[in-house]
Amino acid sequence: MTNQRLLLGATLTYSGNPMQSAWEDAVKIDTQGGVLIENGRIAAVDKGDALRAAHPQAEVTRYADALICPGFVDAHVHYPQTAIIASWGKRLIDWLNTYTFPEEMRLSDPAYAGEIAARYLDLTLAHGTTTVASYCTIHPHSADALFQAAEERGQRIVAGKTCMDHNAPEGLRDTVQSAYDDSKALIERWHGKGRASYAITPRFSPTSTPEQLSALGALWAEHPTCLMQTHLSEQTDEIEWVRDLFPEARDYLDTYEAHGLLGERGLYGHAIHLEPREIDRLAEGGGALVHCPTSNTFIGSGLFDMTGLAARGIPLALATDTGGGSSFSMLRTMAAAYEVGQLRGTPLHAAQLIWLATAGSARSLHLQDHVGSLAEGMEADITVLSLDSTPAIAQRHAAAKDIWESLFATIMMGDDRAIADVWVAGARRGGRA
Ligand code: GUN
Ligand code: ZN
Repeated sequence: MTNQRLLLGATLTYSGNPMQSAWEDAVKIDTQGGVLIENGRIAAVDKGDALRAAHPQAEVTRYADALICPGFVDAHVHYPQTAIIASWGKRLIDWLNTYTFPEEMRLSDPAYAGEIAARYLDLTLAHGTTTVASYCTIHPHSADALFQAAEERGQRIVAGKTCMDHNAPEGLRDTVQSAYDDSKALIERWHGKGRASYAITPRFSPTSTPEQLSALGALWAEHPTCLMQTHLSEQTDEIEWVRDLFPEARDYLDTYEAHGLLGERGLYGHAIHLEPREIDRLAEGGGALVHCPTSNTFIGSGLFDMTGLAARGIPLALATDTGGGSSFSMLRTMAAAYEVGQLRGTPLHAAQLIWLATAGSARSLHLQDHVGSLAEGMEADITVLSLDSTPAIAQRHAAAKDIWESLFATIMMGDDRAIADVWVAGARRGGRA
């Protein structure tokens, strides 16, 4: 009996950060590669022939016209918004009030929360996403539901109960004390349990009083290995609202900084309209910025300056922002990041896009020693991309001069049909192979 499995085909590996150095130096594809999986981990990544010869007992899965990649890591999602994705015609604050808050209210029913958590993880696994960092609702059971659904699927997960104690409807507000107590109880229940990590989650400055922000800042100081996720400078009228609500603050980031909510394990979603001081502060080691390109175009928020912020050395992640984002697919999200780059005159290479959707996001979540790359010792979360998944993509693949051209066509045109296989901790969990 063997519990070794050998995946043979083209493999994608990293030796650096393609947002900081030439992509050719940081990202490699070996068209004759192999990945050896043993006990849920990657035991070796090498030439396919060499691994085959050294491990004749391993069960072999061979992939043609495909690319063996790390599982996708989606660094900012709202799983409770699964059922209202693609809701028409509103900008941020109206969109929250019209579509989002009523749906989040429905998760007051634990059975519904469980159903949506399962539906969300199954949908995203089918799109090749093996780890997400998710907001939940204000209800603690909504976080339990997602952690539980991820545990059942063997998935690495980051999540947190959303905290809001004002400027939100009746039924979707907690208090300073309950936000602290409920978040603390969830940390004790889930943080570091199996593959789970907790993210302290003040939704955004407009929906937390300064007292709640301070309480959550104190909780983070008491649990410094937790992440902290929130939103930052997404839309201009949101920023004006923050200015009115926090007249003492130097800028939006300062509303977090002043309450102990700026730190290297911080995740700041959107961050489109930043002031020079905010960028300087973030560049000093204040956490990661999460680019949500389908959301930023769908809700009409603006064009994130990926290249400019990367040049400042700020850690960057990529995310769908489901359901403000218009897709569950990290392929579609990479395509949107490419298009936003084009609108700013700074197109990203396929190598940079796929690095952001895997290692870049994993690094921002401080999970780079666990997931996000194919390397010995990493957990075996692997997504195999078909490079000819539809007739339109197949004809472009056939005309491609190299595998990078093929990969780019799949990034731009692919969807869940391009997910040939998904492995989670070495177990097959989805795909079409
Ligand atoms: N800002 C505060 N809450 C949200 C949310 O749910 N989605 C997005 N896109 N922005 C937000
Ligand atoms: Zn969001």
